[in-house]
Amino acid sequence: MHMKRPQHERTEWPRTHFIQQHREDMAAVRAELAAGLTAPLARLAPKYFYDALGSRLFDAITELDEYYPTRTEAAIFDVHGQAMARQVPSGAVWFDLGAGSCAKASSLFGVMRPGAYVPIDISVDYLRGSVAAVQERHPQLPMLGLGLDFSSALELPAEAGAWLSAHGLQAAPRCVFYPGSSIGNFAPDEALRLLGQARALCEGGGSGSGLLIGVDRVKETAVLEPAYDDALGVTAAFNRNLLRHVNRLLGSDFAPERWRHVAFYSEAESRIEMHLQADGAQTVSWPGGQRTFADGERLHTENSYKWTPEAFEALLQQAGFGEVTHWSDGRSWFSVFWAQA
Ligand code: AVJ
Repeated sequence: MHMKRPQHERTEWPRTHFIQQHREDMAAVRAELAAGLTAPLARLAPKYFYDALGSRLFDAITELDEYYPTRTEAAIFDVHGQAMARQVPSGAVWFDLGAGSCAKASSLFGVMRPGAYVPIDISVDYLRGSVAAVQERHPQLPMLGLGLDFSSALELPAEAGAWLSAHGLQAAPRCVFYPGSSIGNFAPDEALRLLGQARALCEGGGSGSGLLIGVDRVKETAVLEPAYDDALGVTAAFNRNLLRHVNRLLGSDFAPERWRHVAFYSEAESRIEMHLQADGAQTVSWPGGQRTFADGERLHTENSYKWTPEAFEALLQQAGFGEVTHWSDGRSWFSVFWAQA
């Protein structure tokens, strides 16, 4: 029977430490948004989808019949978790990129046996709640919450290195965990750069280090397009919600109801493109700028690249990784790769 620990022992449990890297100031965020909106082909970065409502809409997307990636990846971990655990060293320091709720990584702890957990997300505030829940269930596991925007650069702050040393973990192997096919938001050249930085992060640890990454695969357009244009319109709401978030960040006056959700698969680019299409000519204004959109003009909001296993393995090798293993589902829709550093 599991014995409950006496309350006084609680103080001996490792306390989660949090580090928030210097955040981009609002002026820089507004400058980036304004630059995208005034570019000849207007664009907004997908990282701005995820305000509080956007994160909940994304969670709703993962439950849609049409959106297969989340449940397909979960099934791969269920079926092949044991095989993965023979590759991923136990006792490794897990760096969870875009950890969010920390649910995916923590569900693997039973089989993978990490030595420490370092969830990384753009905002450390969001991490505080989710890490606390994981700490409840894994009271002995040292945890470090890191707030940093790794889409610009994946580099450990010096303070994180000090934390690892203080826990005797400087020589432990490292596992960089990047599930969900979030790598799909990066164009191949940017993906290569991020993978190179992931490898450098692995290199900082002991032997056996590597990257565990989920990647959505090239498949029929008839499967891909509904996943990004669902019958209930949840993805449309997720896409339009970006405009509400931008209105708050930039002080702009987008009218979300005057924009249509557009999503299609480009075979030439191996990517889903999401856009918002102006329903009628309109001018959008913000402090210090404006943009006029013609009827039908599009605002590019996201790319979601799809990979063949061969092309992705080649990319991993180009990024400097060694031996690569991957696992897939029965329909070959999604793959989880383990790439040794
Ligand atoms: C979180 C980037 C993996 O590309 O499938 C889902 C985001 N956008 N539906 C994806 C998304 C529209 C998602 N990623």
